[in-house]
Amino acid sequence: SRTFWVGGNWKMNGSVAAIKDLATTFNAGSSPSDVEVVIGAPFVYVHLLSESLRKDWAVAGENCYVESSGAYTGEISPEMLKDVGAQWVILGHSERRSILGESDDFTAQKCVKALAAGLKVALCVGELLEEREAGITQQVVERQLDAVIKVLKEEDWANVVIAYEPVWAIGTGKVATPDQAQETHAAIREYLKKAISPKVAEEIRIAYGGSVNGKNCKEAAQKPDVDGFLVGGASLKPEFLDIVNATQ
Ligand code: 13P
Repeated sequence: SRTFWVGGNWKMNGSVAAIKDLATTFNAGSSPSDVEVVIGAPFVYVHLLSESLRKDWAVAGENCYVESSGAYTGEISPEMLKDVGAQWVILGHSERRSILGESDDFTAQKCVKALAAGLKVALCVGELLEEREAGITQQVVERQLDAVIKVLKEEDWANVVIAYEPVWAIGTGKVATPDQAQETHAAIREYLKKAISPKVAEEIRIAYGGSVNGKNCKEAAQKPDVDGFLVGGASLKPEFLDIVNATQ
C-alpha cells in the first residue's frame, strides 16, 4: 500500500524569524512514522529550513530551472537545491503555470532535470474553474501529464508524487469535496495505467491540494485514491500538524 504523503507549500511567505518559530512548533508535534512529510519553502529559506526542521521531515524547493549552472540570471538549479538540503521540488504549480506562464513542456523538462539531479518531484496538475464547468477536467489533467509522460522513463515515476490541485480550490476556501477528489484521483490512476503501466499507476501517490485544512482533511484522507495532501495556507500554521495526522 502507498505511504501517505503530506506536503506543505509555503509559496512566497515566511521570514527568518517566522520559519524558526514554525520549525520549533512542527518539531515538537507528533508525526506518524508511516506518513511522509515535506515542506516547500522559498529558495532563500531552504537552507535555514533544512537546518531547523526535524530530520524525519524533508524540505522542498518550490520550483527549479532546467540547467545545472550557467548564465541564467535569477534561476536556481536542482543541484543547488540539493546542495542546501532539499530532497524534493514542487513543479508545475498552477501559480507557475498561470502567473509565470510556464508551459506543460517546460514543466516536463524541469521534471527530467530535477530527477536526474536526484531530487524527488511533487508534480502539480489541475483544471481552472471554467475547464471544470466545461466538463474537460480530465482532458486538461491528461494533457498536463502527457507532457511529462513523454519525457520520463518508467522507473522515474517511483520518485514522483502527483498533486491534483483544482485551481478553483486553491486559496479560495472552496475545497473539492472528498468525492470530487476521489473521482479525479481515480481517473488519473486509471489513465496512468494505460499511459505508463499498471505498476506505476498502483504505486504512485496522488495527493490532493486546494483549501485543505485541519478539519476537512480527515474525510478526504479516507478515500482510497487520496494518498495525501499538498497544503498551502494551512501549512504556515500549527494546524498543519493536524493534517499530518489526518489518517490517525
Ligand atoms: P491552499 O491550501 O492555500 O488552498 O493552497 C493549495 C496549494 O496551492 C498547495 O500547493
